Amino acid sequence: MLSPIVAGVWRMDSWNWSPQERLRWIEQCLDLGVTSFDHADIYGGYTVEALFGEALALAPQLRARMQLVTKCGIQLRVGARPDTRIKHYDTSARHIVRSVEQSLVQLRTDEIDLLLLHRPDALMDADEVAAAFDQLRTQGKVKAFGVSNFTPSQFELLHARTPLVTNQVECHPLHRAPLFDGTFDQAQRLRTRPMIWSPLAGGALLTSEAEEAMRVRGLLTSIGAQYGVSAATIAFAWLMRLPSRPYPITGSRRIEAMQEAVAATRLTLDTQEWTEILVAATGRDVP
Ligand SMILES: NC(=O)c1ccc[n+]([C@@H]2O[C@H](COP(=O)([O-])OP(=O)(O)OC[C@H]3O[C@@H](n4cnc5c(N)ncnc54)[C@H](OP(=O)(O)O)[C@@H]3O)[C@@H](O)[C@H]2O)c1
Repeated sequence: MLSPIVAGVWRMDSWNWSPQERLRWIEQCLDLGVTSFDHADIYGGYTVEALFGEALALAPQLRARMQLVTKCGIQLRVGARPDTRIKHYDTSARHIVRSVEQSLVQLRTDEIDLLLLHRPDALMDADEVAAAFDQLRTQGKVKAFGVSNFTPSQFELLHARTPLVTNQVECHPLHRAPLFDGTFDQAQRLRTRPMIWSPLAGGALLTSEAEEAMRVRGLLTSIGAQYGVSAATIAFAWLMRLPSRPYPITGSRRIEAMQEAVAATRLTLDTQEWTEILVAATGRDVP
């Protein structure tokens, strides 16, 4: 349903591009086979969906070639929302439905391919969410549903009421929790392929001077040299080696960075290379 590499647009408002430049970027992603775009209502302080929709309106025929993912469930305290006194989570049916309706308008589309609840919410009523999802599915407004940043038990709870197709979580060599906390075991068991945010640790993997990052980067670079690819490509390949078959989400504006991510779909790290990267990150051999 999603392309093997997904393009994340969290940072798009900071790119300061014209609608034509945004359209060009979208076209280049599509030409590379990166056809899925990861949004959230709140990106750019509720502005990014509209920036994307504005570009898409210049070439509406492209909509049929792409999958649009968006999220809801966070209420930010920004000028556009004067009623919000404090940042909070809202997974009420009323908010979910309203948020989707706004996303459809902003993205200038009739249908969202995948809607995610952005964060787990202690006040989430699973029956109420399931009813909202059913309504949106029946109305043809959303095709499929998932969650983001959920623990396995939070996922289990909602999945028992309504089918979820993914849990979008952070993972990279500097943040390995989902490898060991049951998140990816559950994804493999249920065949709900995870989506992975910040696959390059928000860039830190390639730029940070912290000891752990430098250790990992050195190894990514030397393994990359053997394959004739960049350190970034090896970082993506490390994630794509996982048997839960995750979809990494890029965060770069640069098409070359997108090409580096796509290059990872053409190589498979062997078990020892994969483990060397894990060991460089943890600083110790596996037990
Ligand atoms: N569900 C959630 O809670 C959640 C949270 C965070 C993010 N996300 C999603 O995940 C997407 C990706 O997150 P992310 O932006 O943190 O991803 P990332 O790929 O880990 O980081 C991208 C950042 O790293 C920089 N960078 C530095 N060197 C790079 C290199 N060699 N190659 C590529 N990038 C390099 C990029 O700058 P340049 O643009 O200059 O290349 C960009 O600012 C977001 O757009 C969003 O869709 C979801």
